[in-house]
Amino acid sequence: MKETLNNIKKLSPDKMPQHIAIIMDGNGRWAQKNGLPRIAGHWAGAETLKSIVESCSKLKIKVLTVFAFSTENWKRPIEEVSSLMNLLLYYFKKEVDALHKNNVKIVISGNWEELPEKIADQIRKSMTKTQNNSGLILNIALNYGGRSEILFACKNICTDVLNGDLCIDKIDEKLFEQYLYTYGLPDPDLLIRPSGELRISNFLLWQIAYSELWFTQTYWPDFKEEDLICAIYDYQTRERRFGGLKK
Ligand code: FPP
Repeated sequence: MKETLNNIKKLSPDKMPQHIAIIMDGNGRWAQKNGLPRIAGHWAGAETLKSIVESCSKLKIKVLTVFAFSTENWKRPIEEVSSLMNLLLYYFKKEVDALHKNNVKIVISGNWEELPEKIADQIRKSMTKTQNNSGLILNIALNYGGRSEILFACKNICTDVLNGDLCIDKIDEKLFEQYLYTYGLPDPDLLIRPSGELRISNFLLWQIAYSELWFTQTYWPDFKEEDLICAIYDYQTRERRFGGLKK
């Protein structure tokens, strides 16, 4: 605890990332390492999420985006998919009051309306309940894929052009962003991937064009506030040029 407080003091308040995105990876391997079924790893991962949400609120981060279920995760064995769905249902039923109390606003990126109705209904209620909160925005990527998000945007742009509501000349990056799930959110400044995998896995493909990437061997269920602070500290030492030159 004392160590964490000292590390927090090392951070520059004027160089905090506004938006942190996390690929919550390594739940299955954590479970295996501990001789537990894979789903126990996902439940432990949900506990880590609770604690990292609290840390982000404390650090005054504006947006935290987490990858909870991808469009490709449907390929997993049916038992794992249905256990993950049960976990999501539990989370949206039981955790929302605590999140609401902490002034967290829940938003979702992805095709969540296609999830089983019980879950979609809880998600709808969670978003409505927390919509006026002014603290951390918790953006949960659910039934999300970066490529499918870009296609979704393209199709909606085409529809608007065909309906005569949009002129092709008006299509630029700024307008394109309005058609993404993340419309209104800043791009992630920092993308964290635990578990030792060094890839993006179809996460926020458009939005991470200039994000700083940070990887750790630690599995997500073992990821602690100290790891988050380490990542932010490292981020603060980087020079971001966005394709330009050093100031
Ligand atoms: C990847 O680890 C993780 C997932 C596919 C699920 C992430 C979900 C949670 C952490 C649950 C909590 C989320 C909410 C919103 C309640 P993996 O299973 O691929 O791990 P492995 O690579 O070690 O097998």
